[in-house]
Amino acid sequence: FGDGPLSGRHVIVTSGPTHEPIDPVRYIANRSSGRQGAEIARALRDLGARVTFVTGPSTTPPPAGVEVVAVETALQMLGAVQGALPADAVICAAAVADWRVANAHADKLKKDPSGRIPTLEFVENPDILATISQMQEDRPRLVVGFAAETSDVLAHARAKRARKGCDWIVANDVSPETGIMGGNENAVLLITADGVEQWPRMEKSEVARRLARRIAEALAE
Ligand code: C5P
Repeated sequence: FGDGPLSGRHVIVTSGPTHEPIDPVRYIANRSSGRQGAEIARALRDLGARVTFVTGPSTTPPPAGVEVVAVETALQMLGAVQGALPADAVICAAAVADWRVANAHADKLKKDPSGRIPTLEFVENPDILATISQMQEDRPRLVVGFAAETSDVLAHARAKRARKGCDWIVANDVSPETGIMGGNENAVLLITADGVEQWPRMEKSEVARRLARRIAEALAE
């Protein structure tokens, strides 16, 4: 693998949405583009890391030179991350579905001639970020999560960091008036054990490069 401050390090990045099946031809999804995750994988690769890129269904092409593990569901994503361990760092940038359909059908659902409408039941998906953060043995040294909030960004993100047990949270305000969701730029807070940093508004690729440099510094300590 490449030269650079992350040479010899293995980093797992989750990215994109997940798809949760309803039946063999239908699923529940979300609007994640997978762009920030792909940029982070690229930036880590550029610093010399071996990168495992665990991605849900996304039209954003993965960067070259990373190991791509394509998955559909949250359960598959968790399995892929666990299967890729051990790692020096895990960056959870995926928009994982909180729930999956409990009564997913093996056969395609049909319209009922009598007009009966199907009911979906949900069960909670595992939280990948929390699962990895709370590993008791061989926990990655650095586990990073994301928090997209629409109000009280700092308070919610701090609570999320504590609840999940991750080391860092990258938080942003995704209120419509910020233009961040689906846009090219991002304005983030980096929340660590040492406190909070407010980064200026910058391109998502630059957020990724800055984050990758910080990861390299943390792993060098
Ligand atoms: O709780 P919330 O979904 O806002 O947390 C977001 C963070 O948690 C992101 O880093 C996301 O990748 C991660 N996450 C996860 N598995 C889930 C839900 C969220 O890894 N099932």
